[in-house]
Amino acid sequence: MSSGRIDVHSHILPGVDDGCADVPQALACVAALVENGYTHAFCTPHVWPTLLKNNVTTIRAATADLQRHVDAAQLPLSLLPGGEMNLLDAWPGISALPDDQIVTYGLAGKHALFDFWADAYADCRMELEAAIGHLSGRGLKPILAHPERIGAMRDPGAIERLAELGVLFQLNSYCLAEPADERIHQTAVRLLREGRYFLIGTDTHRPAGMASRMRGLQIAADIAGPEAVQRLTVDNPRMLLAGAK
Ligand SMILES: [Fe+2]
Repeated sequence: MSSGRIDVHSHILPGVDDGCADVPQALACVAALVENGYTHAFCTPHVWPTLLKNNVTTIRAATADLQRHVDAAQLPLSLLPGGEMNLLDAWPGISALPDDQIVTYGLAGKHALFDFWADAYADCRMELEAAIGHLSGRGLKPILAHPERIGAMRDPGAIERLAELGVLFQLNSYCLAEPADERIHQTAVRLLREGRYFLIGTDTHRPAGMASRMRGLQIAADIAGPEAVQRLTVDNPRMLLAGAK
Protein backbone atom coordinates (compact mmCIF):
# COMPACT_ATOMS: atom_id res chain seq x y z
CA MET A 1 0.00 0.00 0.00
CA SER A 2 1.58 3.32 -0.99
CA SER A 3 1.29 6.16 1.46
CA GLY A 4 2.51 9.57 2.44
CA ARG A 5 2.49 10.50 6.07
CA ILE A 6 0.21 8.50 8.35
CA ASP A 7 -1.16 10.20 11.45
CA VAL A 8 -1.15 7.65 14.26
CA HIS A 9 -2.95 9.69 16.92
CA SER A 10 -5.97 11.93 16.41
CA HIS A 11 -9.24 12.90 18.07
CA ILE A 12 -11.01 13.94 14.88
CA LEU A 13 -14.09 11.72 15.18
CA PRO A 14 -16.68 14.40 15.91
CA GLY A 15 -18.50 14.53 19.21
CA VAL A 16 -17.13 11.37 20.81
CA ASP A 17 -14.53 12.78 23.24
CA ASP A 18 -12.71 16.04 24.00
CA GLY A 19 -11.58 16.35 20.36
CA CYS A 20 -13.43 17.79 17.35
CA ALA A 21 -16.94 18.87 18.30
CA ASP A 22 -18.54 18.52 14.88
CA VAL A 23 -17.99 17.52 11.26
CA PRO A 24 -16.83 20.98 10.04
CA GLN A 25 -14.07 20.97 12.69
CA ALA A 26 -13.05 17.45 11.71
CA LEU A 27 -12.92 18.41 8.02
CA ALA A 28 -10.76 21.46 8.82
CA CYS A 29 -8.30 19.18 10.62
CA VAL A 30 -8.34 16.69 7.75
CA ALA A 31 -7.66 19.51 5.26
CA ALA A 32 -4.63 20.59 7.33
CA LEU A 33 -3.33 17.02 7.40
CA VAL A 34 -3.70 16.69 3.62
CA GLU A 35 -1.89 20.01 3.09
CA ASN A 36 1.00 18.65 5.10
CA GLY A 37 1.46 15.43 3.18
CA TYR A 38 -0.75 13.03 5.09
CA THR A 39 -2.58 10.33 3.14
CA HIS A 40 -3.90 8.32 6.12
CA ALA A 41 -5.01 9.00 9.68
CA PHE A 42 -5.97 6.66 12.46
CA CYS A 43 -8.93 7.93 14.46
CA THR A 44 -7.94 7.27 18.08
CA PRO A 45 -10.66 8.55 20.41
CA HIS A 46 -10.22 8.18 24.14
CA VAL A 47 -11.38 4.85 25.47
CA TRP A 48 -12.13 5.55 29.12
CA PRO A 49 -14.41 3.87 31.66
CA THR A 50 -16.40 7.13 31.59
CA LEU A 51 -16.70 6.98 27.80
CA LEU A 52 -18.21 3.53 27.44
CA LYS A 53 -19.80 4.61 24.17
CA ASN A 54 -16.33 4.44 22.57
CA ASN A 55 -15.77 0.80 21.72
CA VAL A 56 -14.83 -1.36 18.73
CA THR A 57 -18.33 -1.23 17.25
CA THR A 58 -19.00 2.49 17.66
CA ILE A 59 -15.50 3.58 16.60
CA ARG A 60 -15.70 1.48 13.42
CA ALA A 61 -19.06 3.05 12.52
CA ALA A 62 -17.97 6.61 13.38
CA THR A 63 -14.80 6.27 11.30
CA ALA A 64 -16.80 5.08 8.26
CA ASP A 65 -19.24 7.94 8.77
CA LEU A 66 -16.49 10.58 8.90
CA GLN A 67 -14.85 9.00 5.84
CA ARG A 68 -18.07 9.63 3.91
CA HIS A 69 -17.87 13.33 4.81
CA VAL A 70 -14.17 13.45 3.90
CA ASP A 71 -14.89 11.85 0.53
CA ALA A 72 -17.81 14.21 -0.13
CA ALA A 73 -15.47 17.14 0.58
CA GLN A 74 -13.00 15.60 -1.93
CA LEU A 75 -10.21 15.49 0.62
CA PRO A 76 -7.75 12.68 -0.24
CA LEU A 77 -7.30 11.13 3.22
CA SER A 78 -8.04 7.54 4.23
CA LEU A 79 -9.28 7.13 7.78
CA LEU A 80 -8.74 4.04 9.88
CA PRO A 81 -10.26 3.12 13.23
CA GLY A 82 -8.29 2.93 16.46
CA GLY A 83 -8.37 4.22 20.00
CA GLU A 84 -6.33 5.47 22.92
CA MET A 85 -6.88 3.42 26.06
CA ASN A 86 -6.22 4.89 29.47
CA LEU A 87 -4.54 1.72 30.64
CA LEU A 88 -4.56 2.38 34.39
CA ASP A 89 -8.27 3.17 34.28
CA ALA A 90 -8.90 0.18 32.03
CA TRP A 91 -7.13 -2.20 34.41
CA PRO A 92 -8.28 -4.72 35.58
CA GLY A 93 -11.54 -4.44 33.65
CA ILE A 94 -9.77 -5.03 30.35
CA SER A 95 -8.67 -8.47 31.53
CA ALA A 96 -12.29 -9.62 31.23
CA LEU A 97 -12.73 -8.32 27.65
CA PRO A 98 -12.69 -10.73 24.72
CA ASP A 99 -9.64 -10.10 22.52
CA ASP A 100 -11.72 -8.69 19.67
CA GLN A 101 -13.16 -6.02 21.99
CA ILE A 102 -9.75 -4.49 22.78
CA VAL A 103 -9.36 -1.38 20.62
CA THR A 104 -6.25 -1.67 18.43
CA TYR A 105 -4.81 0.13 15.39
CA GLY A 106 -7.03 -0.59 12.42
CA LEU A 107 -8.89 -3.03 14.73
CA ALA A 108 -6.27 -5.43 13.41
CA GLY A 109 -5.46 -6.94 16.82
CA LYS A 110 -1.73 -6.21 16.58
CA HIS A 111 -0.79 -2.82 18.08
CA ALA A 112 -2.57 -1.09 20.97
CA LEU A 113 -2.17 2.64 21.75
CA PHE A 114 -2.46 3.56 25.42
CA ASP A 115 -1.79 6.38 27.81
CA PHE A 116 -1.86 6.71 31.59
CA TRP A 117 -1.34 9.51 34.08
CA ALA A 118 0.93 9.33 37.11
CA ASP A 119 3.50 11.65 38.62
CA ALA A 120 5.85 8.90 39.75
CA TYR A 121 6.47 5.48 38.21
CA ALA A 122 6.59 3.83 41.64
CA ASP A 123 2.98 4.94 42.22
CA CYS A 124 1.62 2.91 39.30
CA ARG A 125 4.24 0.29 38.56
CA MET A 126 2.33 -2.80 39.70
CA GLU A 127 -0.96 -2.01 37.94
CA LEU A 128 0.68 -0.64 34.81
CA GLU A 129 3.02 -3.57 34.34
CA ALA A 130 0.19 -6.03 34.97
CA ALA A 131 -1.91 -4.32 32.30
CA ILE A 132 0.98 -4.20 29.82
CA GLY A 133 1.66 -7.87 30.53
CA HIS A 134 -1.97 -8.64 29.79
CA LEU A 135 -1.81 -6.89 26.41
CA SER A 136 1.46 -8.61 25.51
CA GLY A 137 0.00 -11.92 26.59
CA ARG A 138 -2.87 -11.41 24.14
CA GLY A 139 -0.29 -10.98 21.36
CA LEU A 140 -0.60 -7.19 21.21
CA LYS A 141 2.30 -4.74 20.89
CA PRO A 142 1.67 -1.91 23.37
CA ILE A 143 2.45 1.65 22.21
CA LEU A 144 2.61 4.42 24.81
CA ALA A 145 1.26 7.77 23.64
CA HIS A 146 3.23 10.92 24.44
CA PRO A 147 5.57 9.76 27.26
CA GLU A 148 6.94 13.32 27.23
CA ARG A 149 3.60 14.51 28.69
CA ILE A 150 3.54 11.96 31.52
CA GLY A 151 5.31 12.97 34.73
CA ALA A 152 6.24 9.38 35.58
CA MET A 153 7.95 8.93 32.21
CA ARG A 154 10.40 11.80 32.70
CA ASP A 155 12.35 9.29 34.79
CA PRO A 156 14.83 7.65 32.38
CA GLY A 157 14.53 4.46 34.41
CA ALA A 158 10.80 4.30 33.62
CA ILE A 159 11.46 4.63 29.88
CA GLU A 160 14.08 1.90 30.11
CA ARG A 161 11.73 -0.35 32.09
CA LEU A 162 8.83 -0.02 29.62
CA ALA A 163 11.20 -0.52 26.69
CA GLU A 164 12.37 -3.75 28.35
CA LEU A 165 8.72 -4.82 28.55
CA GLY A 166 8.43 -4.31 24.78
CA VAL A 167 6.54 -1.00 24.84
CA LEU A 168 7.04 1.35 21.87
CA PHE A 169 6.82 5.13 22.25
CA GLN A 170 4.85 7.75 20.28
CA LEU A 171 5.84 11.44 20.28
CA ASN A 172 3.24 14.20 20.07
CA SER A 173 4.60 16.58 17.43
CA TYR A 174 3.33 19.73 19.14
CA CYS A 175 5.37 19.01 22.28
CA LEU A 176 8.47 20.02 20.29
CA ALA A 177 6.78 23.36 19.51
CA GLU A 178 6.28 24.15 23.20
CA PRO A 179 8.57 26.81 24.77
CA ALA A 180 12.12 25.55 25.23
CA ASP A 181 11.95 25.95 29.01
CA GLU A 182 8.92 23.63 29.32
CA ARG A 183 9.65 20.15 30.68
CA ILE A 184 7.42 18.62 28.00
CA HIS A 185 9.61 20.17 25.31
CA GLN A 186 12.84 19.19 27.02
CA THR A 187 11.72 15.60 27.55
CA ALA A 188 10.55 15.31 23.93
CA VAL A 189 13.88 16.61 22.63
CA ARG A 190 15.85 14.23 24.87
CA LEU A 191 13.83 11.16 23.91
CA LEU A 192 14.00 12.09 20.22
CA ARG A 193 17.78 12.52 20.39
CA GLU A 194 18.06 9.17 22.21
CA GLY A 195 16.15 7.48 19.38
CA ARG A 196 13.42 6.30 21.76
CA TYR A 197 10.45 7.10 19.53
CA PHE A 198 8.83 4.64 17.14
CA LEU A 199 6.14 7.03 15.90
CA ILE A 200 5.27 10.71 15.69
CA GLY A 201 1.56 11.52 15.93
CA THR A 202 -0.29 14.82 16.00
CA ASP A 203 -2.81 14.06 18.80
CA THR A 204 -5.07 16.48 16.89
CA HIS A 205 -8.04 17.76 18.88
CA ARG A 206 -9.23 20.81 16.92
CA PRO A 207 -8.33 23.02 13.94
CA ALA A 208 -6.69 25.76 16.03
CA GLY A 209 -3.97 23.37 17.13
CA MET A 210 -2.87 22.24 13.67
CA ALA A 211 -0.19 24.90 13.10
CA SER A 212 1.84 23.98 16.19
CA ARG A 213 1.50 20.29 15.35
CA MET A 214 2.98 20.86 11.91
CA ARG A 215 5.67 23.20 13.28
CA GLY A 216 6.68 20.36 15.59
CA LEU A 217 7.41 18.14 12.60
CA GLN A 218 9.83 20.72 11.23
CA ILE A 219 11.51 21.00 14.64
CA ALA A 220 11.82 17.20 14.72
CA ALA A 221 13.54 17.33 11.33
CA ASP A 222 15.90 20.04 12.58
CA ILE A 223 16.81 17.90 15.61
CA ALA A 224 16.89 14.38 14.22
CA GLY A 225 17.05 14.91 10.45
CA PRO A 226 14.42 14.50 7.73
CA GLU A 227 15.16 10.76 7.41
CA ALA A 228 14.13 10.22 11.03
CA VAL A 229 10.88 12.14 10.49
CA GLN A 230 10.22 10.04 7.38
CA ARG A 231 10.75 6.88 9.44
CA LEU A 232 8.52 8.08 12.31
CA THR A 233 5.67 9.50 10.19
CA VAL A 234 5.70 7.22 7.13
CA ASP A 235 7.74 4.01 7.36
CA ASN A 236 6.99 2.85 10.91
CA PRO A 237 3.31 3.91 10.81
CA ARG A 238 2.91 1.82 7.66
CA MET A 239 3.42 -1.27 9.84
CA LEU A 240 0.18 -0.33 11.60
CA LEU A 241 -1.77 -0.56 8.35
CA ALA A 242 -1.18 -4.31 8.04
CA GLY A 243 -4.38 -6.21 8.68
CA ALA A 244 -6.44 -3.04 9.22
CA LYS A 245 -10.16 -3.71 9.00
FE1 LIG B 1 -4.78 11.57 22.54
